[in-house]
Amino acid sequence: MIEVRELRRSFGGVKALDGVTLTVGDGERRAVIGPNGAGKTTLFNVLTGELPPTGGDVRLAGAEITRLRPWQRARLGLARVYQRTELFAPLSARENVALAVAARAGPYRAFRAPPRSEYAAADALLERVGLAGRENAAARILSHGERRQLELAVALAQRPRVLLLDEPTAGMSPAETARITELISGLDRALTILIVEHDMDVVFRLADRVSVLHEGRVIADGTVSEIRGDVRVHDVYLGKAVSVA
Ligand SMILES: Nc1ncnc2c1ncn2[C@@H]1O[C@H](COP(=O)(O)OP(=O)(O)OP(=O)(O)O)[C@@H](O)[C@H]1O
Ligand SMILES: [Mg+2]
Repeated sequence: MIEVRELRRSFGGVKALDGVTLTVGDGERRAVIGPNGAGKTTLFNVLTGELPPTGGDVRLAGAEITRLRPWQRARLGLARVYQRTELFAPLSARENVALAVAARAGPYRAFRAPPRSEYAAADALLERVGLAGRENAAARILSHGERRQLELAVALAQRPRVLLLDEPTAGMSPAETARITELISGLDRALTILIVEHDMDVVFRLADRVSVLHEGRVIADGTVSEIRGDVRVHDVYLGKAVSVA
């Protein structure tokens, strides 16, 4: 579903991505882990087209997308949930999701007020992410955990084939983390998921395979149990961040 080959992206002298190659299968759930500054968010920015790469290429379901605009990639089925919240704060939860439903009909459709038909679709998505009963709450009054649930609904409204999640549990309480982890776990198995996550319990719960980034390179790639046992991974990341049983 995703093929990344020799991807490079520099910022001045900083090589944020220094030749990243990875392949994610159709329906696979892949975690991308690594220390702060490893290049995880930059990888997502290049995958979505928000940042042009300085080298390498990206394919989505066999199609070369390296030079497509972000909205063109979204049209091909790529959706993203950001590391920081991106919602329309004064609008209700329902209106935020309805706008994303409306945007499926074309990039300019979303600039008109969403009609009732889109509210029904929005409410179904809100229920799916555990926000039933919060349809009329303005995004700005939602709790941090609820906002992340809402962002997930906005992403799902695009009917993606590939979902990119950048630290979906960041800043959440243990109860909120457990809740969003179960929500992600319960998503359609046909959906391909890439997840950047620092919480190893969440990674080991959700991922089929794990890629470890360090200084812009993939230093390990394997199943959850292979990664748990990888000495290099412990040296650069796991040993510092968490204790692994
Ligand atoms: N827009 C930018 N301008 C300049 N440097 C950047 C930019 N974005 C990222 N970098 C640099 O690229 C490197 C990789 O950053 P990136 O945000 O991809 O890391 P990350 O793995 O997502 O880290 P974190 O776990 O802290 O979110 C860092 O050295 C960062 O400072
Ligand atoms: Mg990041």
